Amino acid sequence: MTKKIESHLTEDRVIKPTKEFSKSARISSLAQYKKIYKESIQSPSKFWSKEAKELHWQKKWSKVLQWTPPFAKWFVGGKINASENCLDRHLNGPRKNKAAIIWEGEPGETRTITYAQLHREVCKFANALKNQGIKKRDRVIIYMPMVPEAAIAMLACARIGAVHSVVFGGFSATSILDRVEDSGASAIITADGGWRRGKVVPLKANVDEALKKSKLVKKVIVLERCKNEVKMKRGRDIWWHKAMENASTDCPPAQLDSEHPLYILYTSGSTGKPKGILHTTGGYLTGTYSTTKYIFDIRDDDIYWCTADVGWVTGHSYIVYGPLLNGATCLMYEGAPNFPDFARFWDIIERHGVTIFYTAPTAIRAFIKAGDHLPEAHDLSSLRLLGSVGEPINPEAWMWYHEKIGGGKCPIVDTWWQTETGAIMISPLPGATPTKPGTATLPFFGIDAAILDETGKECKANEGGRLVIRKPWPSMLRTIYGDKRRFKKTYWDDYEGIYTAGDGARRDSDGNFWIVGRLDDVLNVSGHRLGTAEVESALVSHPSIAEAAVVGRPDEIKGQGVVAFVTVKEGIKHGAKLVTTLRNHVSKEIGPIAKPDDIRFANALPKTRSGKIMRRLLKEICAGGEVSGDTTTLEDFQVIASLQKSN
Ligand code: WTA
Repeated sequence: MTKKIESHLTEDRVIKPTKEFSKSARISSLAQYKKIYKESIQSPSKFWSKEAKELHWQKKWSKVLQWTPPFAKWFVGGKINASENCLDRHLNGPRKNKAAIIWEGEPGETRTITYAQLHREVCKFANALKNQGIKKRDRVIIYMPMVPEAAIAMLACARIGAVHSVVFGGFSATSILDRVEDSGASAIITADGGWRRGKVVPLKANVDEALKKSKLVKKVIVLERCKNEVKMKRGRDIWWHKAMENASTDCPPAQLDSEHPLYILYTSGSTGKPKGILHTTGGYLTGTYSTTKYIFDIRDDDIYWCTADVGWVTGHSYIVYGPLLNGATCLMYEGAPNFPDFARFWDIIERHGVTIFYTAPTAIRAFIKAGDHLPEAHDLSSLRLLGSVGEPINPEAWMWYHEKIGGGKCPIVDTWWQTETGAIMISPLPGATPTKPGTATLPFFGIDAAILDETGKECKANEGGRLVIRKPWPSMLRTIYGDKRRFKKTYWDDYEGIYTAGDGARRDSDGNFWIVGRLDDVLNVSGHRLGTAEVESALVSHPSIAEAAVVGRPDEIKGQGVVAFVTVKEGIKHGAKLVTTLRNHVSKEIGPIAKPDDIRFANALPKTRSGKIMRRLLKEICAGGEVSGDTTTLEDFQVIASLQKSN
């Protein structure tokens, strides 16, 4: 099979869904997709209200959409509670005692939590939050390992109308502090630690460090996970199990407006300060519910596993909200993919009988490198559908995923979306869409995606341009928390009333979208978004550094690697020692994911006459050395020559 496919040019490899898959899929042919898509674009309100009606509304909306660009309100006048929809809605039927979460800790222990049990825990914890003085609209930071309690904490916040802001467990104390300050959080939910590659990540200690510099947080609730030693501050800190001791299991879901804020999630942009992306309730639930249903074609007997962390949007939409809204069984794994070795994922799939597996290209490339013998030693025949997210998947990785993991029979859904979009925007429907390795294919129902040129004209087939969404959609971000101006400027300034994603893309002659990469100063390192300015500002915060410019370079496993060009202050010696110091400094300021792979010292950075660093030139130097293109605006030609020499 491999041979037959590989003898074609990349663009010609078309992989159609198998007849068997299509037969039982919700959308079973391209013609059916096209028909519904066309109708959904002609009347998005009709499509989305049909989807929304499948959820439980405490009060029905009076208007589907109120659109005052760039501000949208969905299901205006409606009342809805996210946790009630994820939990209570399933308790009156056969799903009541079905597994909601199957969890595996890194050391190997497992837990299964049914919908009834999850409901009980969420109600109790919601009451515990109330007992700690947390109220509707309060912002609560969740900084936890990948344990069921992370989902319980999110759903408990949603139950009482508190706004959660999950901070990825790999972020540093400084990153926690920034998010506390920006969101005005009054409470943090954390754990003593979490397991990662056999070591304990000291989560509580990081929180303590962050809170030395902030007085906003009044309560810290600490889950006992690793039993590592922690200090508890009197009056501020309380153990999770203590807070739960006297909490009642009776907690009616709060009546919340459809536009009530559900969460804030911080993501990198092209300036130094991360953006607090605000998502609200009714529209977000509708988008995640509907996309999970159609794109993963999820069924009651599926065991669905998304390998993301709850600290990222993928964890929010496709570990917690989307799957639970659909009453699915979700597998959740705490640790690293290579602990104790790179067979861990295949072992988990085999032992738990995983049927749907959703992961990132960077992981797939690492698995390829680790060797085929690892998946080959495991029975992966339970799998029926595969997914990919976070960055473009290169055709080689796609084919390997298809054959070695999917046994040549599982469709792959390559899903394009963003923290800002809340839900998947472009993706194949597994029983309907013929795919080509490397393309996210076609837009989801109701999503008016297009590629525009600089003048706002739609690009012709195979012409590169900017990826935009021309109509509002329910799970769209509502604003950047506390910064409407930045919200407008970042996403809505290029074309009037049209959302600009910041990605470059093209459509082929079949209408498939091929994502090329970011157009702004955002890097995609192992599927994680990092702003070059964020890393630069971390570098210059070190006393030895005068200036820094950060660029990405192609990396076989991570997609992009981080390269920093720095100039040191007068009298500072540079060398291997300073490189280590700087790498650790960035790790402390942002988190280990932002550590530069390469730090190069320069006497000066290439700048335009107006003083702007010419990153394009630095990128070219990193990618191969030769500088091409226009350098006429360069202030000092000597700089390029010296940078090339230091290469
Ligand atoms: C990139 C992650 C190509 C893209 C859900 C986007 C992708 C950014 C894909 C958002 C994909 C995500 N194909 N590129 N299937 N999925 N991206 O906010 O550049 O962490 O703008 O959301 O990742 O990253 P974020």
